[in-house]
Amino acid sequence: KIYSASTTAPVNIATLKYWGKRDTKLNLPTNSSISVTLSQDDLRTLTTASAAEFFESDKLWVNGKEESVHGPRLVACFTELRALRKTLEDANPELLALSKYHLHIVSENNFPTAAGLASSAAGFAALVQAVAKLYELPQSPEELSIIARQGSGSACRSLFGGYVAWEMGQEADGSDSRAVQISTQEAWPDMKAAILVISASKKETSSTVGMQTTVNTSTLFKYRTEVVVPQRFKEMSEAIVNKDFETFGKLTMIDSNQFHAVCLDSSPPVFYLDDTSRLVIGLIEKVNKIYGRVVAAYTFDAGPNSVLYYLKKDELIVLGLLKAAMPDIGGWDMKSYTASIAPAV
Ligand code: DP6
Repeated sequence: KIYSASTTAPVNIATLKYWGKRDTKLNLPTNSSISVTLSQDDLRTLTTASAAEFFESDKLWVNGKEESVHGPRLVACFTELRALRKTLEDANPELLALSKYHLHIVSENNFPTAAGLASSAAGFAALVQAVAKLYELPQSPEELSIIARQGSGSACRSLFGGYVAWEMGQEADGSDSRAVQISTQEAWPDMKAAILVISASKKETSSTVGMQTTVNTSTLFKYRTEVVVPQRFKEMSEAIVNKDFETFGKLTMIDSNQFHAVCLDSSPPVFYLDDTSRLVIGLIEKVNKIYGRVVAAYTFDAGPNSVLYYLKKDELIVLGLLKAAMPDIGGWDMKSYTASIAPAV
């Protein structure tokens, strides 16, 4: 008999970026970060976890392709989840010994993988949730976020809908480095996102490698993590709670720009933006200037694709602008779509 559980997990896009680890094994960050979770109707990973006595080894398929299960991050997630199940089994001998069975994980994204669209975030969040569901674990999303974090740092934030903080924590074992919800989608329902898929190809420098190059070589980085981010974290959290889009948008844009600045300040330099990304930045800066307020805020992760945050009332301006600007941009092969914010996960 095969025992299975399925779940979906959403993508989250950081508005205050996680960039740098103080512990690469446990994925402990050098700064706290903030993100917005996008609705699963738009972007999500669907994962099924199965266990059976006759499975001969752990296996993983991502978008139909078999992947290694020996990576330390996946091993860390499996080990922690199995240990929690084992505790349940020890306390309740009637429970099936699922912790002893091998796991088969089948995972599918409905968006490009590893193109800077937070696929690892949704991927590990879905994996941890699917196994936790299969194992009937009583742990809260906050507790599970500590496990998802070990798969991919940003994954811990995909365990919640709405507006989410990943508190960096102080402990060496990572027990306080977890995600918490700052505010719900319902509390600020007029927020929208537009995703501009400028390139769906895989990024040249993975986040994991890029961020440690920055940690080890950038002189600006220390100032960012020690001085800028702690203050910005407070201001952005407050802006979210107060539904202050002007402040939220400004902080989102300057934080994206500072993240790409510390990438450039790394040796060798790490480039994620391309000419089209820079055109989008110029366009949004211009429209915000014309209107005399923040109509839309751009942010870019470890790739050229842009995510714009804006309020529903401004959707026609934002989408109209993008449509009008397209002919000006040579070779624009952009697939853009809008997304809502995830109510709950
Ligand atoms: C630029 O979470 O992909 O998207 O922990 O090494 O898996 P690992 O890195 P990952 O890095 C995400 C970096 C970012 C910013 C963010 O999401 O906060």
